[in-house]
Amino acid sequence: MLRITEETVQPFEKEHIDLLRKTAPECALFLKREDDTLPLAPGKAALYGSGARKTIKGGTGSGDVNVRHFVTVEEGMERAGFEIVSKAWLDAYDQVLVDARAVFVEQIKKEAAELGINAVMYGMGKAMPEPQYEIAMDAECDLAVYVLSRISGEGADRDVSAGDINLSETEIRDILYCSRHYKKFVLVLNVGGMVNLEPVMEVKNILLLGQLGTPTGDVLADILTGVSNPSGKLAMTWAPIEQYPSTKGFGDMDDTVYNEGIYVGYRYFKTADVTPTFPFGYGLSYTKFEIGTASVAADEKKVSVTVPVTNVGTCAGKEVIQLYVSKPYVKLDQPYQELAAFAKTSELKPSENEEVTLTFSLRDLAAYDEELASYVLEKGVYWLRIGNSSEDTVVCAGLKLDADVIVKECKTICPGADIPKFIPADGMEAQERDAQLKKTEAPVYELHAELFQTEKVTYSEEPTEILNKGTGSFEDVKSGKISVEQFISSLTNEQLAYLSIGLYEDNTGMGSMIGASAQTVAGAAGETTKRLEELGVPSLVMADGPAGIRICKIYKIVDGKAKGVDNPLAGMMEFMDQEQLQMMAAMAPKPTEEEEKAPIHYAYCTAIPIGTALAQSFNTEMCEKLGDLVGKEMEQFGVHLWLAPAMNIQRSPLCGRNFEYYSEDPVVGGRIAAAITNGVQKHKGCGTTIKHFALNNQETNRMASNSIVSERALREIYLRTFEICIRESAPAAVMSSYNLVNGEHANNSKDIQTHVLRDEWGYEGAVMTDWYAVGGMIAAAGGRENKHPAGLASGCIHAGNDLVMPGMEADFEEMLSAVDNPEAKYPITRAELQVTAKRVLEMILKLA
Ligand code: BGC
Repeated sequence: MLRITEETVQPFEKEHIDLLRKTAPECALFLKREDDTLPLAPGKAALYGSGARKTIKGGTGSGDVNVRHFVTVEEGMERAGFEIVSKAWLDAYDQVLVDARAVFVEQIKKEAAELGINAVMYGMGKAMPEPQYEIAMDAECDLAVYVLSRISGEGADRDVSAGDINLSETEIRDILYCSRHYKKFVLVLNVGGMVNLEPVMEVKNILLLGQLGTPTGDVLADILTGVSNPSGKLAMTWAPIEQYPSTKGFGDMDDTVYNEGIYVGYRYFKTADVTPTFPFGYGLSYTKFEIGTASVAADEKKVSVTVPVTNVGTCAGKEVIQLYVSKPYVKLDQPYQELAAFAKTSELKPSENEEVTLTFSLRDLAAYDEELASYVLEKGVYWLRIGNSSEDTVVCAGLKLDADVIVKECKTICPGADIPKFIPADGMEAQERDAQLKKTEAPVYELHAELFQTEKVTYSEEPTEILNKGTGSFEDVKSGKISVEQFISSLTNEQLAYLSIGLYEDNTGMGSMIGASAQTVAGAAGETTKRLEELGVPSLVMADGPAGIRICKIYKIVDGKAKGVDNPLAGMMEFMDQEQLQMMAAMAPKPTEEEEKAPIHYAYCTAIPIGTALAQSFNTEMCEKLGDLVGKEMEQFGVHLWLAPAMNIQRSPLCGRNFEYYSEDPVVGGRIAAAITNGVQKHKGCGTTIKHFALNNQETNRMASNSIVSERALREIYLRTFEICIRESAPAAVMSSYNLVNGEHANNSKDIQTHVLRDEWGYEGAVMTDWYAVGGMIAAAGGRENKHPAGLASGCIHAGNDLVMPGMEADFEEMLSAVDNPEAKYPITRAELQVTAKRVLEMILKLA
């Protein structure tokens, strides 16, 4: 494992930061660029706003990354030669923040006390809304740059009140002042998700910079000065929060009903004919492109659309071409359009052009018919629309299917959602749309139903025990002397259970703290068991993502174990009262002499752009390169499994973890996650863990909240994004989610973890639970009596998880007590323990 020194920046660090600085502009986009302010020449600049000096590189919680150094906007602009003439404002704002934080922490403690909840749990992930303040904006020069930032993180959702999703009065006042007062003005958004810009729409230049990891400030300076040309597109619709149908009822502590069904994001806005502030797929750059006439080749297996794209502007840039399909509306209602494919051009110089080909298979657009328990393509015309935003498309062809097709016969999963049918009311009815489209002059290609094949899923039966077939060590398995089955057949139930539970030492029941559950790499989130080391079974180390690798940056090795020097609880201490702080201090083990003497090591990782920003690049090649970057660092720091990509659908802008996630659209989410996985998994011994499977679309009471969703929406939107990723990349692992789906914890749902994942999709990797997903932690998380009880470790095994993470003695005991026990809620068999142990061992064989 690489041990680096504090002083010397390693060649890989520099290489990775250089790569990011070059590629990250692809994740940014102009929302508005209406005058000739940009690009800027370095000179005097008045820099204001929450993100100017306190720039956010990514969100909080497990998605954070400990970097050596991170470039703020102030630093980046200064390095690019700007003279910041508003230092007094920036200094005053620093003090405003300190004061506001103190008030905020007191408020959290007070609210927690009133609710009888532990303040640390209650405050977890809660972002402090922007305070109100008055600081003179008196820096005189021609140019002002206002950087608006937002932060959020796991454990809490975003807030509809002013200062989070909505701008605060101070922000609106100051932004409008800058826009009216300065000759040149740029509003920069250093945010991880949507903010409502309606009150400041008079601003002429708005850049969505996002949160781009280590070089964020340098990337901004490059864009402002025209060294880089942003080429991203929105992967989520931006609109005032009350316009999203998912807002009503979002974040219920117990049951969140997905009333909008399949009408998520642009599927809703376009169908309901509601014009958002900025649509999905939209984004401006320094140049403009013209999309020429499409040529289409279509058969029952594959549809290809080729379009010439020309740069008709004055500087080099890239364009994202999007292919949407409007389906016929026969028995099943359909959204106005669905994204079927996207492609990004290479960098085109002015007047240069390129042909871009987008392909998809019509099978993949099949809708789920709950009555038939099948994916179906209904008879009629499928209209193809090509464009560079969901609002700006041209119909280029129709595909006429002569009869209904059953694409795949499945079984009903996750029953129990009784939701009234939702069809956006005000929009143009799909039949009417269809009739209008028939009048277009685009060519229509005939497709024949009989040439499509129907896939019938065979669902797995309960496994049978592998009987003793001989003994040997894990070394014998590695050398091929005995099979994994033979090895497993000789293990006791206890040994099998240990293999299915993460590494833990402490038998008191509490387990280890998040972020400190691994022994081999300090600050890694978890590790598989070391209890079978005497049989030659090595452990696998898991570290968080998705914006880089989350491990401790300063650590020591004592007794062969890596220990972080930085306090993993530092972020939570502010919410502790005196008593808790004293208790912590008393409980903290005093460093031994050996510990004191052990040399300090450093592990500096690179923070890459947050998930949402990566998706905005719409560039799978670039995402694969960044996955490769992460894979290299995993190799260097001894991490086998990266707990990323995080790829839940951005159902509502209110979800506190959206910044980690990709998109409201499953094709974008699935393909970006696959590209990153392919990059990581190029490295031998490195695998990804796609998470959180499935429907972890809110953070409020995330361990015990129930997502109530129709089977159609579940399959077509929420599961589909994972399905695409698995098909295109074979990630080593999947992390099941905490929440319930239609009344059952997702990690206890055999329908999700086995019948869909393995039987329908053929997934062969391992499944692990999210951290402390079962057992006592759940009650503490809500701090109140939860309507839905916690899941069980035995339930996780029965459902098809292979690893219960990060591991506690309680999991071990509960799991064993359920073996062949008809009284148990989820009785399990030795055969089931063998199946999970086998998958864990296979993963170890592949990665260790
Ligand atoms: C998060 C996961 C993360 C895990 C380990 C959980 O709280 O939900 O995304 O991978 O902790 O840190």
